[in-house]
Amino acid sequence: NNYAIIMAGGVGSRFWPWSRTAQPKQFLDVLGTGKTLIQQTFERITQICPSENILIITNKKYADTIAKQIPQMPGENILSEPKGKNTAPCIAYGAFKIKKQNPDANILVAPSDHIILKEDLFTRVVREGFNYVSQNNVLLTIGIKPHKPETGYGYIQSDAKVIKEDSGKWQLSSVDAFREKPDLETAKSFLASGDYFWNAGIFIWSVDSILASMKQHLPEMYGQFETYEPDFNTGAERKAIETIFDQCQSISIDYGVMEKAKNVVVISTDIGWSDLGSWSALHELSDTDSQNNTSNSNQTLFYNSNNCIVRALDNKVAVIEGLDDYIVVEEEQALLICRKQNEQMIKQFVKDVGDKF
Ligand code: GDD
Ligand code: MG
Repeated sequence: NNYAIIMAGGVGSRFWPWSRTAQPKQFLDVLGTGKTLIQQTFERITQICPSENILIITNKKYADTIAKQIPQMPGENILSEPKGKNTAPCIAYGAFKIKKQNPDANILVAPSDHIILKEDLFTRVVREGFNYVSQNNVLLTIGIKPHKPETGYGYIQSDAKVIKEDSGKWQLSSVDAFREKPDLETAKSFLASGDYFWNAGIFIWSVDSILASMKQHLPEMYGQFETYEPDFNTGAERKAIETIFDQCQSISIDYGVMEKAKNVVVISTDIGWSDLGSWSALHELSDTDSQNNTSNSNQTLFYNSNNCIVRALDNKVAVIEGLDDYIVVEEEQALLICRKQNEQMIKQFVKDVGDKF
């Protein structure tokens, strides 16, 4: 009864110019392991569900890339969205499709562009989660202990009423509130209070629980998706999905459902998670020199500079005294130079000018 939806339609704008609309982060080998993030995600999830129970949902412009990167994936399990409408419609599409196949399904929903270092623990936590959601009408999310006031994440306030635990490994508890992407002041207060977790963006629920929550909190969207007949062979599905995505609201599952739902529970655990959401996040995971600089290339010379992250092609790059805390990224047709403290602006920049530039 265990299914998975891998969400792979994001444009990964925070890694511009390395990731571009044509090649978002999930399709890059961000850590230099020889595998792209989506390949790693797929392999991780095949430890938990058979590949025929895994759906990858993406924008239609990436469907070919996915088929190429994951050739073992059955073609009918790659679902294309005609338009990016954020994660709520993606999940509605997948959930109705799965419901049709198996009304008793449990679903793991996972982003395609994260890393998880402790895969065995992740597998155990998800199995535990599947177990729990098959008996309880809850929306389960994975929580990570925060270590900085990151504003790009959702925050989960847990009242620490522990429902179940495996001491030191994971703890399942009820949730008081879910707050998506707070401003910096609020994030600081959440961090200081000590009873918030980051939302890892990995959800576990039964197909009935998520559809009931959508019906309650996103009734219009629920109604739009409810009508489509999942059947690719007749072409009816493609046509219906075209219309639905044209009309439906663009909203994330976090704002659309998780912030409003009263039946959220969290499994907090340290699975070695990073969403690699920024150059700084990558910097934190990279090997650095004694001045805390890092580069992918041995042609980079840090000459008395500190805390810089460089990504370069084959050219010699020199970063010279006085340039501290900078991001320098060289790509075929673009060069980025940005202060690390302003990296959140990269996303805004791509939104404003991005590929037109
Ligand atoms: N199919 C599809 N369609 N996938 C999408 C779409 C879409 O329109 N938009 C985004 N995705 C995919 C992305 O590729 C990514 O794998 C995942 O959905 C999450 O989207 P992001 O855009 O990366 O979300 P976020 O990082 O701003 O926030 C989410 O993740 C954080 C942790 O990384 C939220 O769940 C936060 O609460 C969470 O803390
Ligand atoms: Mg993300």
